[in-house]
Amino acid sequence: MDIALRSEPFATVEADALITYVFEQDPPICGVLAELDGVLGGRLQRLAEAGELRGKLYEMTLLHEPPGLTARRLLVVGAGKPEKFTGVELRRLAAAALRYLKGRGLSRLAFLPREGQRDAAAAQAVTEGLLLGDFEMDKYKTEKKEGSKAVASVALVGWPGAEVQAAVVRGRIIAESQNFARELINEPSNRLTPRVLAERAAAMAKEEGLECDILDEKKIASLRMGGLVAVSQGSAEPPRLIVLRYRPAQPRPGAPVLGLVGKAVTFDTGGISIKPSEGMEKMKYDMAGGATVIAVMRAVARLKPPVEVLCVVPATENMPGGRAQKPGDVYIAMSGKSVEVINTDAEGRLILADGLTYARQLGATHLVDVATLTGAIVVALANVNVGVFGTDDAFTQQLLDGAKVAGEKMWRMPLGDEYAEMIRSTIADLQNVGSGKGGGAITAAMFLREFVEAEPWIHLDIAGTAWLDEAKPWSAKGATGVGLRTLVELIHRL
Ligand code: BES
Ligand code: MN
Ligand code: ZN
Repeated sequence: MDIALRSEPFATVEADALITYVFEQDPPICGVLAELDGVLGGRLQRLAEAGELRGKLYEMTLLHEPPGLTARRLLVVGAGKPEKFTGVELRRLAAAALRYLKGRGLSRLAFLPREGQRDAAAAQAVTEGLLLGDFEMDKYKTEKKEGSKAVASVALVGWPGAEVQAAVVRGRIIAESQNFARELINEPSNRLTPRVLAERAAAMAKEEGLECDILDEKKIASLRMGGLVAVSQGSAEPPRLIVLRYRPAQPRPGAPVLGLVGKAVTFDTGGISIKPSEGMEKMKYDMAGGATVIAVMRAVARLKPPVEVLCVVPATENMPGGRAQKPGDVYIAMSGKSVEVINTDAEGRLILADGLTYARQLGATHLVDVATLTGAIVVALANVNVGVFGTDDAFTQQLLDGAKVAGEKMWRMPLGDEYAEMIRSTIADLQNVGSGKGGGAITAAMFLREFVEAEPWIHLDIAGTAWLDEAKPWSAKGATGVGLRTLVELIHRL
């Protein structure tokens, strides 16, 4: 999809459809809409008076052959209350408009921003929305959707200047990287094993000029990554540890090195502590954290920030089998700590622990891990917010500020020594589930915390937000790629 700035007036833009939006306010027809309505001879005003144009969020009003416009249709999207309108709504509105028009076979589009929204940030949000909205997982459909046609181009009308052009480029890099993550996450586990994920990461790294190191099962064992070995031993598929590294052209001495660690369980059956069959097919997305940090590296390779970034992705299946780990087993993690495995379904923390240890060994001074770690985070925050746990207030706030700008909902959760008590084992240093009821997302985070030292560390639990069970006006169902935009923004802020 081609997205280009166009400086001509909205009336003469050639397109199958011109998109703009209306707020839920009094009067609704004002600013850019009033100008537009001047050309249209008062049609919008009359629609508003008839109660057909109310500005309700994502409500669509399509006008055919609008008089005075070269565009063949005009789509006015509801934008909700102006005081609640942020980059989140703008991004989603652009996505929803694209999905609505694509379904009608319209392929040459134009987007007209409202007054006061012609800055670079808005252009970036619209660019991201258009590309994210266009994402579809139809690669295994032998018959493509009828009537739906790929959108060829979107003209951004009335945005000025070079700064905005740079924002469009940036928005494209970010959205395409997010879609790269979504594609990996949507892959079924028979098509995306740990080995295939490693190959895909390596191919991307080669294309983008990133350093890449793939560790096989022998290397993993020789590094004494006890957690990754323990989780993978029940599977016929061998594990992989994926390491990607970006070094800036002009490294600054003493600058931070960001280490991203992503959980990639390409399928989580639960192991011997097996999960119920209902909904188990969704456990192919248990590698979303890993896919997301790999995709962040793609964006970083293209955006070329002045900070060094590396990612470590332990990849494995979690299967029951003759060699599978069993409840009560004890293993030694790479860090040297001993762990009693109470429940083999709490596998993510076991592989992430070794991932964190390895990222520190590689020189990371700041750590962020991303994982579909617990069902408990869904209990706490529903499918709305990402759970954020952090040891360093300033670093954590930096990430939360980034999330705001990136338009991803995140909420900080507590850590605390009281929770550390709950993961103390009677026979080893740690046990992999909390004793007692409640706080499951927190005890999981506390487990990870045992594997970092003084460096600022953040854990993102994306179990509730990495997957959409139903399509939204602005998004296909399935993988969301959540976390990517926030991490790219965090790197920008470092
Ligand atoms: N991959 C799951 C967490 C999960 C749940 C992800 C729902 C996406 C949606 C994780 O490995 C898991 O099974 N966690 C257990 C931990 C428990 C055994 C302490 C859970 O949350 O039930
Ligand atoms: Mn599990
Ligand atoms: Zn899991």
